[in-house]
Amino acid sequence: MAKNKNNQAIWNTRIKKKTSSLFEKIGNSIDIDKRLYKEDIIGSIAHVEMLFKQKIISFKIKNKIVYGLQKIEKQISKNNFEFDRKHEDIHMNIEKKLFEIIGDDAGYMHTARSRNDQVITDFKLWIKSSTRELNQNLSKIIKSILKLADKNIETIMPGFTHLKNAQPISLAHYLMAHVEIFKRDQRRFNNNFESLNECPLGVAALSGTSFNIDRDYTSKKLGFDKPTNNSIDTVSDRDFVLDFLFSVSVCSMHISRIAEELIIWNSDGFNLIKLSDKVVTGSSIMPQKKNPDLLEYLRGKSGLTFGNLFSMLTILKGLPLSYFKDMQDDKEIVFKSYDTLIDCLKILEELLKNISPNKKRMYQLADTGFITATDLADYLVKNHSMAFRKAYQKTSEIVNYAEKKKKKLKDLKIEELKKIEPKLTNEVLKIFDLKNSINSKKSYGGTSFENIKKMIMKYKKNK
Ligand code: ARG
Repeated sequence: MAKNKNNQAIWNTRIKKKTSSLFEKIGNSIDIDKRLYKEDIIGSIAHVEMLFKQKIISFKIKNKIVYGLQKIEKQISKNNFEFDRKHEDIHMNIEKKLFEIIGDDAGYMHTARSRNDQVITDFKLWIKSSTRELNQNLSKIIKSILKLADKNIETIMPGFTHLKNAQPISLAHYLMAHVEIFKRDQRRFNNNFESLNECPLGVAALSGTSFNIDRDYTSKKLGFDKPTNNSIDTVSDRDFVLDFLFSVSVCSMHISRIAEELIIWNSDGFNLIKLSDKVVTGSSIMPQKKNPDLLEYLRGKSGLTFGNLFSMLTILKGLPLSYFKDMQDDKEIVFKSYDTLIDCLKILEELLKNISPNKKRMYQLADTGFITATDLADYLVKNHSMAFRKAYQKTSEIVNYAEKKKKKLKDLKIEELKKIEPKLTNEVLKIFDLKNSINSKKSYGGTSFENIKKMIMKYKKNK
């Protein structure tokens, strides 16, 4: 057995020279992966309980190890633990400390396992609980959006394509689009559980072990569905990391999109919303300014999470099976992405509570840009049995005429309309009413007030 004097590496019998101080400095990951201490200890306890059940270690030794590990857990939680960079990572730091606490019996803990499977087990456990945390935050955002939507079913605004007025919509309908988006993010995160739920523990470096271990037992104890199928794949696999980073990236991209939209709406040009003083910042020179810095922070942060996804893809590209040190950076990358997203989610939630729509201005803007032109074309199809293309052409002529006369569609006289399309009667005038337009969109998923009310109810009940 290797000597375990505490200032020496576990492998000091084999490797005679002290690690180069430069490598010691850059090769360790303890500052990063100490965050996995709880998962590492839970994993080790499950492992030694299995070793005992399988009669590989004695009851007494198992108890000693569990006692030592629980003590270490308390020390770390209470900030009473000195991490040592010399011992590279969280796994070695804990093992070293165990020797210090219970003596040489600590040496039985690492039977039939390797740091390679340990690190993935810890990491999968961590990603699983962090995914739940992210989903809970997404639920809070969804709740805030539903609340805001509920208050704005009849708030009329322009719906845009190309940022040009397209068709009138309800503000609630726009908000409910983001409910769909964030619900999809939750589903995307949940889909990752399939691979996260395979337990790596017990593959022992890369080829399995000759010990009679019970991987189903540890799997169950740690809350996984089943053990992984191939030991080589297990220690090489970081797909679950990529899945997580991708899901984080997509979610931050969504946050970035809503942030950008709100920045535009908050601009002096659009002036569709007002941000409360709680979520704006001032300028160092221009006394009048109220800047949407927080929204800009949200928009920008997706750059960081995309970069992290690409870092991980690049690290893995061309990497042969199985474990290589290259992969050690996975944790720093994931932690950064997670921390960034969780902050963004919390900020977005706060922002949603501090936005008020400028309803008058929304209506005014919706009332420009010939926004009910599609309604007129549809009317011609329905009431004067025209083909849609023909109706589209007629409506374009009417829009051209209104533009030339500097009039809104609703301000055109029936006589003027008749000059272009003689079949038209007074009845057509109601078509230009914004509310009428919105409420005519009764098709499933459309913007009618009734539809939105139903959707809000449906999602509120879902909770
Ligand atoms: N700290 C290492 C990492 O995060 C743990 C695995 C070490 N395995 C090894 N064979 N050096 O990747």
